[in-house]
Amino acid sequence: MIHLNKTTLLLCSFMLIIPATAALAAEAKSGYEYIKPATRATQDDDFANPGLLSVIQGQRLFNNKQDGASKACAECHNEDGEKLNAKNIARYPVYSENNAEIVTLQKKISRCRNDNTSNKALPTDHPDLVALEAFIRNLAIGEAVNVQTDGPVTKLLKQGETLYRTRYGLIDMACYHCHEVYPGQMIRGQKISQGQGNGFPAYRLGTGEITSLHQRIQQCLITMRAEPFEADSDEIKLMGLYIMSRSNGLSIETPAVRY
Ligand code: HEC
Ligand code: HEC
Repeated sequence: MIHLNKTTLLLCSFMLIIPATAALAAEAKSGYEYIKPATRATQDDDFANPGLLSVIQGQRLFNNKQDGASKACAECHNEDGEKLNAKNIARYPVYSENNAEIVTLQKKISRCRNDNTSNKALPTDHPDLVALEAFIRNLAIGEAVNVQTDGPVTKLLKQGETLYRTRYGLIDMACYHCHEVYPGQMIRGQKISQGQGNGFPAYRLGTGEITSLHQRIQQCLITMRAEPFEADSDEIKLMGLYIMSRSNGLSIETPAVRY
């Protein structure tokens, strides 16, 4: 017999009221519009935003040659990444036709780190990679998310959308239910947002950690009592790409502060 705890019961009661008709696709709204005023104030204040500590850590990793490395990132990309292009950063994840793969910003960073600084490879979502990603993404703050949606990407987005609309886990709900049907509703003291990706890596007050978009997807799956998609799996890349395409046009907020 399955013992349902309070959270599960709360989620189950949600399931009963899912409307039969599909909700109309709403205009994209940042998670910022759904968080509490106090959380917004924390995000907006550079001295209070705990995510900026990760950005600063990423900046250090970027500017200084690391133990075991042949070069610092800054030797090619200039101090503080001055040569990196904010408009390009806003395009990630990108599709690489050569390798027929989705490349996240973190993956690009990780590869450049391996290939050009000869440093020991790190696993996906290693804190150093998330910090570097937060630093580089923050260079594009205010830039509109601009993920490709045409050409070969069209098919991938369809696959991502299918995953988004698939029911998972013990609560048997899809991402779509909470983030497209229920935005604005309260769940465990938090307002459900559209589940956009423009704030990532984001600092989560709930876990006290800087969190990549892929980690956030995994955390939602865990809340759904489902097996989270593995790092670097096709599923997580497709889901991440689809989420970022939904965020097209929203301003990059990295590091956002979220519950
Ligand atoms: C030896 C020079 C060199 C070093 C060192 C280097 N890179 Fe690069 N990086 C490049 C070149 C050249 C490109 C563009 C070609 C490509 O896309 O691979 C690039 C591309 C990138 C991009 C993609 C930029 C875009 O516009 O899409 C990112 C992000 C990046 N590097 C981050 C880093 C980080 C972080 C480090 C340090 C861990 C680093 N790089 C170290 C040479 C370097
Ligand atoms: C039972 C409801 C529920 C389901 C189902 C759900 N989420 Fe969430 N999700 C939340 C809540 C609550 C939050 C935190 C508040 C917010 O930002 O919506 C959240 C936050 C997020 C965020 C961060 C948004 C931001 O601005 O910080 C993303 C991304 C996300 N979810 C993706 C997903 C994905 C992908 C799935 C499906 C695998 C999923 N969620 C399924 C409830 C849900």
